[in-house]
Amino acid sequence: MRVVHSPHEIYSQLTHERSTGRSVGLVPTMGALHAGHLSLVEQAKRDCDIAVATIFVNPTQFGPHEDFSKYPRTLDCDLELLRKINCDYVFVPSSEQIYAPGHSTFIDPPAVSRLWEGEIRPGHFRGVATIVFKLFMMAPAHVAFFGRKDYQQVAVIRTMVEELNLPIRIEICDTIREADGLAMSSRNRYLSTTERTRALGLWRALQHARELVEQNVVDVAKIEAAMAEILHTAPIDAIDYARIVDALTLEPLEQIDDVAVAIIAARLGTTRLIDNLTLSRR
Ligand code: PAF
Repeated sequence: MRVVHSPHEIYSQLTHERSTGRSVGLVPTMGALHAGHLSLVEQAKRDCDIAVATIFVNPTQFGPHEDFSKYPRTLDCDLELLRKINCDYVFVPSSEQIYAPGHSTFIDPPAVSRLWEGEIRPGHFRGVATIVFKLFMMAPAHVAFFGRKDYQQVAVIRTMVEELNLPIRIEICDTIREADGLAMSSRNRYLSTTERTRALGLWRALQHARELVEQNVVDVAKIEAAMAEILHTAPIDAIDYARIVDALTLEPLEQIDDVAVAIIAARLGTTRLIDNLTLSRR
């Protein structure tokens, strides 16, 4: 496994790999790797000749009162995990290499970024779209792999790729869950034991939404009320949103006609978790 720090070097290595006919799969991460990230790298290895992971805690996607400074940084352990699964390249740029002093160029994210995370975390998707675009330029890959847990992030990236005609395919992989259903997240390590137990309310609420749809309940207000009830009973400390939205536009729905997605963002103590589940009437 090659660990590369310089944008020029990763660009020339991957350009060389591509020129020899090898396909390249990219897995952008912020490190603090867990089984969810590793499953993306494993998928990249299955689908492509070369798997590249990137590790960069991107300052521009954190708000001024968010957890940028305390975001877990576990580089040695991350490299060890990636080495074990035979990742081919890891790109670990420094902050100065990505955002030189005076950096002022950003991607204006698409409309699908407007609601939910976009409302609660102003500027978040501008930071995500900018870093993902830059990584795509620095580490030219055929396919990039993202986890479905960050549902709105995936929608933003897919739309950006389509609307900016970027020559890369986006592959979305299923959320990896702990045995009891908690979606894997780098932020789970912040949870105390009791918060960890209460956090299961998110998964229970999502599963209940799915059960209701399977029983032909299509009235969104009813399903959202049932989700909120489960979250309050958990109890979750604060619900940012627990809604059912259109699977493509992420606009709120009144009724489920075909496919929708239940999305939740909630806080336990100082930890904010998000999760989602697709609801289908078919
Ligand atoms: O999902 C993440 O870890 C980050 O938002 C990403 C896509 C690596 C951009 O910093």
